[in-house]
Amino acid sequence: MSSNKVIAVLSVTEKVGEDSFSQSDQEIFLNLSGHIISALENDRLNMTLKQKRTVLQEKNRQLKKLERAKTELFNMLVHDLKTPIAEIVANHDILSYTVSEENKEYVVAAQTGCDNLFRMISDLLDIARLKDGTIKLVYEKFAAKDLVKDALSRLPGIAQQKNMQLLESYPDMDTEITMTGDRTLMMRIMQNLLINAISYSPDGESIIAGFEQLPEGRISFFVEDHGPGVPPELHDKIFEKYVQVSGQVKARKGTVGLGLTFCKIASEAHGGNIRVESDGSTGSRFIITVPNEGQPVKLSGKTKKKKKK
Ligand SMILES: Nc1ncnc2c1ncn2[C@@H]1O[C@H](COP(=O)(O)OP(=O)(O)OP(=O)(O)O)[C@@H](O)[C@H]1O
Ligand SMILES: [Mg+2]
Repeated sequence: MSSNKVIAVLSVTEKVGEDSFSQSDQEIFLNLSGHIISALENDRLNMTLKQKRTVLQEKNRQLKKLERAKTELFNMLVHDLKTPIAEIVANHDILSYTVSEENKEYVVAAQTGCDNLFRMISDLLDIARLKDGTIKLVYEKFAAKDLVKDALSRLPGIAQQKNMQLLESYPDMDTEITMTGDRTLMMRIMQNLLINAISYSPDGESIIAGFEQLPEGRISFFVEDHGPGVPPELHDKIFEKYVQVSGQVKARKGTVGLGLTFCKIASEAHGGNIRVESDGSTGSRFIITVPNEGQPVKLSGKTKKKKKK
């Protein structure tokens, strides 16, 4: 018996040519049946486990399929949002040339809102695509200085509205410093950092953007501001999706906390990294370090194991 249930019956015939079974014979039977019960129970448990494992494996397979379908649908929807927004942005541009001076501020506010929305959608889409490896980095060689200058020249109206001073800082070198990477992605990293620096700093403050050449073929781009800074305990956390420092509600109008996640993933796709230096009260310096001559890095997806020779 096991757990008060009969699980097997052991039938013993009479001893051939002998008397009835002795006490010690019966003890041997009991002992033997104990072993048989454990063997049967083990077998039954093994069978149940095998069945449960098969059910779980099937459920896992279905969940992965659903997850893939959900990601594809999500990416498609987010991507399709870009077209109507691009149309709104283009029409606002036309409006901004013809609108009267007194109504100009409304068009500028609408333009800023659309720029923000477009950037957020691009960040969301690229975070997903860089993670699942569906975006291919387009590598080209470009001057590091041009990248910073371009990013500064394409800032949305917010920098002017806040009357910020945008300063540049470059190494004192005769030869032009270049980097090989995805220029569009690098540009979007810089723009995200610049927009953060402007948004989270008080009006009229200055911001410094530039780069430094490091030893061993690495280059670091940076954006420095004199805003409220980032508390040291959040230096890693702010690069996670949807993490925002509390107490900056006003500066964060219409933001969701995706920009720095995009910057981190895009830097890592270049074989680099991003970090912040700040004491949490007197400004911050965001630094991206990447190789000058990089190769695109695969962030996720299964890597094939090398066959042993
Ligand atoms: N230069 C900065 N100074 C102070 N705090 C900053 C700075 N940059 C980012 N932060 C803090 O880090 C948080 C995350 O930044 P992130 O760029 O990821 O998101 P966001 O600016 O809130 O939204 P999004 O960029 O998606 O529009 C911000 O909400 C802000 O609290
Ligand atoms: Mg941001």
